[in-house]
Amino acid sequence: MKQYLKLDPWNIIEEGFDPHNHEISESVFSIGNGYMGQRANFEEDYSGSTLQGSYMAGVYYPDKTRVGWWKNGYPEYFAKVLNCTNWIGIHVNIEGQPLDLATCNVKDFIRVLNMREGTLSRSFIAELPDGKEVKVEAIRFISVSHREIGAIRYALTPLNFSGQISFTPYLDGDIKNKDSNYDEKFWMEVFKEAGVDDAVLTIKTKKLDFHVTSVMSYTLSKNGQPLTVTPESVQQEKYVAHHLVMDVQEQEQIVLYKYVANVTSRDHGLGQLISTARALLQEAMQLGFEELLQEQISSWDSKWRESDIVIEGDIAAQQAIRFNIYQLNQTYNGEDDRLNIGPKGFTGEKYGGSTYWDTEAYCLPFYLSTADASIARNLLVYRYKHLEKAKENAKKLGFSKGALYPMVTMNGEECHNEWEITFEEIHRNGAIAYAIYNYVNYTGDTAYLGQYGLEVLTEISRFWEERVNYVPAKDQYMILGVTGPNEYENNVNNNWYTNHMAAWTMEYTLEVLTHLQQNEPLIYKELMDKMQLKEEETSKWQDIIAKMYYPYDTELNVFLQQDGFLDKDLTPVSELDPSNLPLNQKWSWDRILRSCYIKQADVLQGIFTLRDRFDLDTVKRNFDFYEPLTVHESSLSPCVHSILACELGYKEKAYEMYMRTSRLDLDNYNNDTEDGCHTTSMAGTWMSVVHGFGGLRIKDGQLHLSPFNPGYWKSFSFKVMFRTSRLKVTVSEHDVTVSNETDTQVQVNVHGSEYTVTGLSTIQVDL
Ligand code: BGC
Repeated sequence: MKQYLKLDPWNIIEEGFDPHNHEISESVFSIGNGYMGQRANFEEDYSGSTLQGSYMAGVYYPDKTRVGWWKNGYPEYFAKVLNCTNWIGIHVNIEGQPLDLATCNVKDFIRVLNMREGTLSRSFIAELPDGKEVKVEAIRFISVSHREIGAIRYALTPLNFSGQISFTPYLDGDIKNKDSNYDEKFWMEVFKEAGVDDAVLTIKTKKLDFHVTSVMSYTLSKNGQPLTVTPESVQQEKYVAHHLVMDVQEQEQIVLYKYVANVTSRDHGLGQLISTARALLQEAMQLGFEELLQEQISSWDSKWRESDIVIEGDIAAQQAIRFNIYQLNQTYNGEDDRLNIGPKGFTGEKYGGSTYWDTEAYCLPFYLSTADASIARNLLVYRYKHLEKAKENAKKLGFSKGALYPMVTMNGEECHNEWEITFEEIHRNGAIAYAIYNYVNYTGDTAYLGQYGLEVLTEISRFWEERVNYVPAKDQYMILGVTGPNEYENNVNNNWYTNHMAAWTMEYTLEVLTHLQQNEPLIYKELMDKMQLKEEETSKWQDIIAKMYYPYDTELNVFLQQDGFLDKDLTPVSELDPSNLPLNQKWSWDRILRSCYIKQADVLQGIFTLRDRFDLDTVKRNFDFYEPLTVHESSLSPCVHSILACELGYKEKAYEMYMRTSRLDLDNYNNDTEDGCHTTSMAGTWMSVVHGFGGLRIKDGQLHLSPFNPGYWKSFSFKVMFRTSRLKVTVSEHDVTVSNETDTQVQVNVHGSEYTVTGLSTIQVDL
């Protein structure tokens, strides 16, 4: 844990430059717009430790799998989000010396991520080795309204000298992924040109042929007046630049505005890349930096109007929730159903930028409640489009039918290489099925079931049907050799969560079949013909549902995470010397696997997901048993514990877990933020407020709230879109108000009582 950022409700602020924190800050201060994003690297040169990162959504590389011992069934490649052209770069030279914060004395450094407006800024005074001092004020953003455009305003003022300076804005495509398996560079040059008006660079991936074209241009000003300097064009391998040399007097301010358009072959024909990028760049430059900035501010204002959460009386909690919402909104906007949400968003390379079960199990609820239903629907359609690949994956692993969705994917193919993840973490199939239920339950869009949902559900049920193991001696079905959500156990038998999600999927699939048969007979028939679903299959599912084995201990009255869990030494985490933590950085893997310590919610994940199936006593017994054994070394864990703790009225635990999930990156809880932020778990943070403290549930098509104010906050409020209404819910110490911000009436259930909230009105209920 490391706390060096200042508390502020709308900004993330770093004061003073400490190179040891730089890579953490590069992650935390990242910016993006769903189409592209980047780490908060410096514009000028920096020879200290840095992780350069500029990413274009959906542009990836199938890097050849690297393992010590090949196992049949491994995917051929490990997909990687590609570190693309560095388009922010500006070499700055002062009287022959490069400006490089690693070699200067840096004073008055301040870096600000303005979450309200969607900008990243920095200012500092740099004293160069020869004593010359310059003041730099830089601000940049990736436009939300012009998704291919990035703009930078870079201002420099010599403080104690007059002399010659140069700016060299550049595009550098000679980029290597840090996680490249064989130290290979993935990009090839296709085209470059550095003319007077602009500079162009097109690079393409060595495999899959993704092309990325960047076009940049600039304007200059001196003390607010336009400045013209004849550029010297520079071209090197995969690199173009404009070299601008100028004389400047002490205290004169020179400003470079750098504009860049980045386009990819995912969206445009190869022949149109350059002309499209040029046209977009022209349009942006005609608007100019200030106008683009105003548009940026108003785009973010609309996002905040739909998704803001206000926490009064706790600035650390307030800043944290806005940070989480900010990152989610800048990572995914649902405009493109080929895209998804990588665990690190646009903030780092780890996890390859690929899609994990995180999307369905964690992210979906955020997008369901804060955006139009079509956005969440696109996340589901993404999986529908991968159904054929999921069927191939099941075949590849030896199944005769059904679909096994990949644990890690870019295009529907499995692309991870750890056997326990690819072969064993089959619980992801359950999360993907559950997301369909979650979406339909929330939106009421039952048409989705006939259009896409049933096929996915059926193929997943078919997979479970074949994956279970019937044990005649016990007359029960078991699921052997799996890894549950808790990745600190591998190859276990009967992971309670997995068994439950498997049986639940079959139950829900049968329910959907009956629904369609009764309500949409034509669609039902069409789908039956297409899927050739046989009576013997559905009756087998019924048998499995009835006879699924769930490990349980009758003395403790708790569900067992898996067979044999109680044979372990059950010393709680609180009794471990803290120097052992985090286990994944301090213990051998072997020791971790033998221990009882739980990386992330597992049984509790199941209780959280299928909450309606368990009474509060059951929740309490299991929470009290598993929480003390959980180390929360996956970012996905504390939010689930926080939500359950709210329901149990465990104020301190609920708050502790909330702070842990929400400030995970801001305070570097897991000591790994330099690799990137934990973007998918940020949706879990949002759930902790809305589903945890707000107690939001959808039951029988109605919105239910059971608010719980932990007592640390004067009040908190959140927005939710539900069906055709947008509601603002405010929970204070003594009451809850629900304001309907739209003009359609909605029924709301608060703590068991029903209320009608007519359009544009507010109700108040005592707590
Ligand atoms: C967690 C997984 C998760 C992955 C990506 C891992 O540490 O154990 O559940 O899917 O991170 O976020």
